[in-house]
Amino acid sequence: MEIGRLISDRARGVDASGIRRIFQLGAQIEDPINLSIGQPDFPVPEPIKRAAIEAIERDHNGYTQTQGIPALRERLIEWLGHDLGWRFGSAGDPEVLVTSGTSGALFLAFMALMGPGDEAIIPDPYFVMYPHLATMCGGKAVRCDTYPDFRMTAERVEPLITERTKLVLYNAPSNPAGVVCDVDECRDLLDLCRRKGVLLISDEIYDEFTFDDFQSDVTVGVPKKPRCPSPARFDGAQDDVLVIRGFGKTYGVTGWRMGYAAGPSELMGHIAKFQQYTYVCAPSMAQHGCIAAMDVDMGPVVAQYKSRRDRLVQALRQWTEVTVPGGAFYLFPRVPEGMSGTAFVERAIAKKLLVIPGGIFSEKDTHFRLSFAASESQLDRGLAVLADLYAGR
Ligand SMILES: Cc1ncc(COP(=O)(O)O)c(C=O)c1O
Repeated sequence: MEIGRLISDRARGVDASGIRRIFQLGAQIEDPINLSIGQPDFPVPEPIKRAAIEAIERDHNGYTQTQGIPALRERLIEWLGHDLGWRFGSAGDPEVLVTSGTSGALFLAFMALMGPGDEAIIPDPYFVMYPHLATMCGGKAVRCDTYPDFRMTAERVEPLITERTKLVLYNAPSNPAGVVCDVDECRDLLDLCRRKGVLLISDEIYDEFTFDDFQSDVTVGVPKKPRCPSPARFDGAQDDVLVIRGFGKTYGVTGWRMGYAAGPSELMGHIAKFQQYTYVCAPSMAQHGCIAAMDVDMGPVVAQYKSRRDRLVQALRQWTEVTVPGGAFYLFPRVPEGMSGTAFVERAIAKKLLVIPGGIFSEKDTHFRLSFAASESQLDRGLAVLADLYAGR
């Protein structure tokens, strides 16, 4: 059978060759310096592992409620109440859904909002999935150019809003630049979306990977967690913002596929319906593990990542332009003038250093992404290669 004839235009419209090529090149290298990975390098804290193992042993292996197990949802509701000031439980209040990863929440939200011809405004540079979320739902991703400081401000978003705009997707700390907007910028973006009647989706997967005490005036929650400014933290935001968060990055459990979404109940009802007919529920043992995660203090790990960030920024600044990431574990430095990100990365790979060209995350190919979720010795080796590359060697 000629299978090619059967493949949908939707599938043909998604090109994954760029990133695949980098991974193929990387797979051929012996003893690579791998600074391309988007997952933490620390071991999962013991209580989290134990809770998941015990859940399996206690026979919590079946389907769960589509919305997630009540014990986890209660913890999330409590936390969102502390953190964002959101109120749950009465008619018209927001709802929370436990999802199969942050990606699951994003995909289902797009399914619920986007139709043929609809537009979603995404940042550029963006997390690789964002443009495809829109196109997979028959819509269009409109890229908001955030160079050179990578801030997705209301000023930059406003000219892109049309009658077809359904949503603005904001991400902080961001992938690939780690950038965090300040409280005023978050407020302006929320105000703009309210004025224009479009939904603001806030992808906060790295929210606890926040290096600076952005909001030292607010100390809530036990254990105390670092807090990144969020458009969801303003009065009434629960009616206008869909917050999407995850457990994978914060606790090192990316393979567990755990995330959650909270937002207006009408929208959440549609998202829950799609979850029922696609993922069914988030993995049951992982949901139990994540209840334990909510009591674990990741502060020491985040502090270690912060010191890695400082060291790398200091080194890179001698050679090139780099914004200081306020969170996550990536740097997005500029490549030397006159060279493309792809050409730079090919030269890096020839020296065993695996990083990702900016063109994978952007319409522009002028930067590269380096992940510092790697051991100190890998980072040292990586810096030595970068010193050579920026010196033209
Ligand atoms: C900004 C952003 N959003 C969402 C995701 C997806 O996360 P998950 O593994 O929870 O699906 C990632 C993963 O790299 C990400 O960087």
